[in-house]
Amino acid sequence: MSETRTIGVPSETKDRERRVSLTPSAVASVVDRGHRVLVQAGAGTGAGFDDDAYTDAGAELVADAGEVWAAEVVVKVKEPQPDEFAFFRDDLTLFTYLHLAAEPELTRALVESGIHAYAYETLTDRTGLPLLAPMSEIAGRAAAIVGAEKLSAAQGGSGTLMGGAAGVPPAKAVVIGLGVAGTMAARGLRGLDAHVTGVDVDLQRLYEHHLDGTVDATQISEPAAVAAHVREADLVVGAALVPGARAPVVVDEQMVASMRPGSVVVDLAIDQGGCIATARPTSLSEPTYVEHGVVHYCVTNVPGQFPRTASAALSAAVTPRLLQLVTDPDDASLSGALNVADGALVHPVVAETFPDLPRA
Ligand SMILES: NC(=O)c1ccc[n+]([C@@H]2O[C@H](COP(=O)([O-])OP(=O)(O)OC[C@H]3O[C@@H](n4cnc5c(N)ncnc54)[C@H](O)[C@@H]3O)[C@@H](O)[C@H]2O)c1
Repeated sequence: MSETRTIGVPSETKDRERRVSLTPSAVASVVDRGHRVLVQAGAGTGAGFDDDAYTDAGAELVADAGEVWAAEVVVKVKEPQPDEFAFFRDDLTLFTYLHLAAEPELTRALVESGIHAYAYETLTDRTGLPLLAPMSEIAGRAAAIVGAEKLSAAQGGSGTLMGGAAGVPPAKAVVIGLGVAGTMAARGLRGLDAHVTGVDVDLQRLYEHHLDGTVDATQISEPAAVAAHVREADLVVGAALVPGARAPVVVDEQMVASMRPGSVVVDLAIDQGGCIATARPTSLSEPTYVEHGVVHYCVTNVPGQFPRTASAALSAAVTPRLLQLVTDPDDASLSGALNVADGALVHPVVAETFPDLPRA
């Protein structure tokens, strides 16, 4: 690879997605390292970063998506949408969220193109999943806000207030998966004085939450126990993840059907296929539907509603890894991120999900 690389920052095309992958200050540090950065005009506007801020930072503004995707490396936020598949080519490196376990068409298009595709959500380091964590943090906080809102009668919910009132017990919330997103959701819900039960398969994690009081009660993830908690819940937040794989289905359809009418489920794990059986992907334009009398909110890009905070958080986490990627794509700091290369699936868990596609 040459020392100076051309990096493209396209506008996001997913429904109501306003995040941008690199802020102007991140662009300045990439340009400082001797690289060219092509930014699609208007790419940062929705997040509060105007075109002038990018040109002041040393970016070259280009008018259309095709010019940005002609760069050697494209750095994005959300998984490419079908109208972007035509930009894939075998000498392109893509760095973005991919969530391939829930995206069979995208997976096929990436494999067929010969592209090198690195996924934020499978990059691992000693802290866990450092490029998933910032968005999980934001989505978790948002889940508490959204869940509380959807429980209002005005939004089709049962009319239950999270914190209850004197003489009236608080709402019951169950959080499935107490990782980054689940912990932030639990903290937000506790902040609203709901009663929160946290469910996980990891006993050590439950022990830590039990000790530090993030939740009112902890529950190991076993179907009968989960069913009992879900039946009583006003709100269930899904946030279980097995990195790279389709999300485990922890809440089955019968459990959802057992909930009181007007209860709410928010399945954040929908980007990996969902951990609640009745969840199917929704958009920021049409975020909810009702099934078994239960309001379902299953938006795949929840942080897209908070683009200023989310872009700054994502850009801060992505920039050092992007600089590593353009210097040495085989560096250990990118461990686990490469999902697709040279016409084959590289990540072992993703490859297991698609046994009919070539694997490296
Ligand atoms: N919808 C959105 O906009 C959005 C945004 C950000 C993150 N997410 C998603 O939220 C999910 C959680 O992300 P995270 O960063 O918190 O992951 P994480 O790895 O930090 O936490 C996942 C937790 O799930 C637990 N788990 C695994 N299997 C389980 C099971 N069978 N039952 C109960 N718990 C189980 C793990 O032990 C872990 O504690 C991911 O799918 C992520 O992609 C969605």
